[in-house]
Amino acid sequence: MDAPDPILDLARASVPFETSALFGSARPIEVELGAGKGRFALEWAAAHPGIGLVAVERARIYLEMAARRAARAGVGNVRFVHTTAEDLLFRCLTPSSTAAVHVYFPDPWPKKRHHKRRFFRAENVARLAEVLAPGGLLRIKTDHEGYGEVIAAALAAEPRLRPVALEAAFAELPATNFEVKYAREGRPVRRLAFERV
Ligand SMILES: C[S@@+](CC[C@H](N)C(=O)[O-])C[C@H]1O[C@@H](n2cnc3c(N)ncnc32)[C@H](O)[C@@H]1O
Repeated sequence: MDAPDPILDLARASVPFETSALFGSARPIEVELGAGKGRFALEWAAAHPGIGLVAVERARIYLEMAARRAARAGVGNVRFVHTTAEDLLFRCLTPSSTAAVHVYFPDPWPKKRHHKRRFFRAENVARLAEVLAPGGLLRIKTDHEGYGEVIAAALAAEPRLRPVALEAAFAELPATNFEVKYAREGRPVRRLAFERV
C-alpha cells in the first residue's frame, strides 16, 4: 500500500475533521500550531506511532519542506495542513477532540503596534481549552520574555486550564528547528505546560 500523503488538503477534507477518518483509524489526535520546517512534528510522530499529529503551518514553503521530509522518513502518522492556527482551532477541530496541543516559538510580534497579531489572546486560549479533551496537555515554548509573561497571564486567566509540572511535561520532547538555533546562541527559553481540567 502507498504511504499516505503527508499534506492534508483542506479543500478536499471533511471539515470539521472526523478524526478517525484522518488517519484511517481512531487514535488520540495531537496538533502542532506553527510547525515551521517540521523537525519537532516528525520526531514526535515517529516516537509516538499510536497518535495522529496534525501540524499546521501558514508558510507554504515550510509546509512542503516538512511534508517532503515526512515522506522520505516514512512517518505515516503526521498530516501537514496549510492554514492558520486559528482556522484549525475554530473550523477544523471539535470540542474535546484533541489530546495535546504543541505551540513552539509562536511569533512574538515584539512591536507594540503588532501585539494584536499575537496568537495568545483570550479568545484563542478559550478555544484551546475547548478543543482539548479532559486531561489534554498544552505545551508552549518561547524565547521572548515579554510574550512569555503575556502567555502565562492569558493561560492563568482560563479556568479550564491548570499548570502542570514542567519536567514531566517536557521529558523527552524533541527540539524544534528554532530551538536548535537558539540553543547554539545560548538564548534562554521559557516553557509552559497546562492541562485541561
Ligand atoms: C518562529 S517560527 C517557529 C517554527 C517552529 N515551531 C520551530 O520552533 O522551529 C513560527 C512559525 O509559525 C508560523 N505561523 C505564525 N503564525 C501562524 C498562524 N497564525 N498559523 C499558522 N502558522 C503560523 C510561521 O510561519 C512560522 O513558521
